[in-house]
Amino acid sequence: MGEHQAPLRAPAGTHDVLWPDSARWERLVGEFARRARLAGFGLVLSPMFEDAALFRRGIGDESDVVRKEMYEFADRGGRDVALRPEGTASVVRAFVQHHPPVPWKAWYVTPAFRYERPQAGRYKQHHQLGVEVLGTDDADVDVEVIALAAGLYAWLGLERVDLAVNSMGCAECRPAYLDALRAYLDEHRDELCDEHRERYRVNPLRVLDCKRPACRAATESAPRITDYLDEACAAHLARVREGLGALGVAHRLEPRLVRGLDYYTRTTFEFSALALTSAQNAVGGGGRYDGLAEAIGGEPTPGIGFGIGIERLLMACDAEGVFPVAPPSPDAFVVDVTGGEVARDLTAELRAAGLAAVRAYDGRSLKSQLKQADRSGARYALIVGPDELERHVVTVRPLRAEGAQEPVGRDEVVAWLTDAGSER
Ligand code: HAM
Repeated sequence: MGEHQAPLRAPAGTHDVLWPDSARWERLVGEFARRARLAGFGLVLSPMFEDAALFRRGIGDESDVVRKEMYEFADRGGRDVALRPEGTASVVRAFVQHHPPVPWKAWYVTPAFRYERPQAGRYKQHHQLGVEVLGTDDADVDVEVIALAAGLYAWLGLERVDLAVNSMGCAECRPAYLDALRAYLDEHRDELCDEHRERYRVNPLRVLDCKRPACRAATESAPRITDYLDEACAAHLARVREGLGALGVAHRLEPRLVRGLDYYTRTTFEFSALALTSAQNAVGGGGRYDGLAEAIGGEPTPGIGFGIGIERLLMACDAEGVFPVAPPSPDAFVVDVTGGEVARDLTAELRAAGLAAVRAYDGRSLKSQLKQADRSGARYALIVGPDELERHVVTVRPLRAEGAQEPVGRDEVVAWLTDAGSER
């Protein structure tokens, strides 16, 4: 025999979600699915890894996500692949590959992988709920998409969520803005952080996104993109803001908001949880990407979507003290001290009737089974001892509700419990 090995642990920056905490995940994903369906979205599943070129071309070679954070590797066949750092590029790739009719509205829930330094609210594997709409640049879709996210935060009971909205302009008007921004940064070069002093010319927008105090201060009075939008982009932004106002979605214009992915055009937005004190307080973000489909080899097709980080969203709920989810408790716990056959058959019957039924295993004593029944949170213990077996009955003992225990005929137990359930 070998020596005892130290137990292996999940890699830093990843985490397990165990029951009963996972009950919140189940409820959250279920509600998101429901809301997405009501808004005309269908579930889309796509691979966890893709040709790395998809992310390089789609998200942009100059983004931090691609440059520093991608889980990229050669597989055993020498192919250059990457774990998805986000959901949008894959969904747009799937759209381009299968050309479904437009407008195409997809929702997803997916892990996303980013090689970041783990800290509170920042993981190497996180999870996102998201939607994408392909095939229309109607500003009302932007409103619909933003309102879908805002509605989820409200349903959770979150009250301290800030929504910042901006426009990144388009291929026509953005170059003039970039020129102006570069000219400004040329003059303030020495004030920038070490990284951006070297790199700002390649992608000046990244400087606006930099969280370091030096860059923040240096760009305080930098040119604002909203002053450079052409007529069509300005009208689009105005229509989005008007729509948000009409639907009662509070927001503010934030001309500094550029987001970390390079595919954005026109509308961008970010939701921040003000109850989270860490710098990692973005609980969702997204925007329009009218050039993305073309950048990855498809027909030019406009699109918009968002991603919501599930871990951060739940952290925000904890910080505001909302969205507690009680772990589901079973309807019945079958206690059988006659050999287990009744427990085996009765749990199967109860489950077939739609009741949640659990039991003990390994021939435990009556005392031990009753303790387990109590711990399980079950509403009733269904007790079968030699006497019950003989009389073909089950002793139904309320564990949560008021009332005395009573014998119920073995063949009537399922109906009895179903009635008890409907009286609740
Ligand atoms: P993103 O802003 O990079 O956008 O990520 C979306 C959300 O995922 C963030 O707001 C945050 O809640 C969460 N998140 C991101 N990185 C981490 C991390 N390392 N640890 C924990 N949570 C994280 C996107 O991914 C775009 N695909 C959104 C989109 C969809 N744009 C258009 N369509």
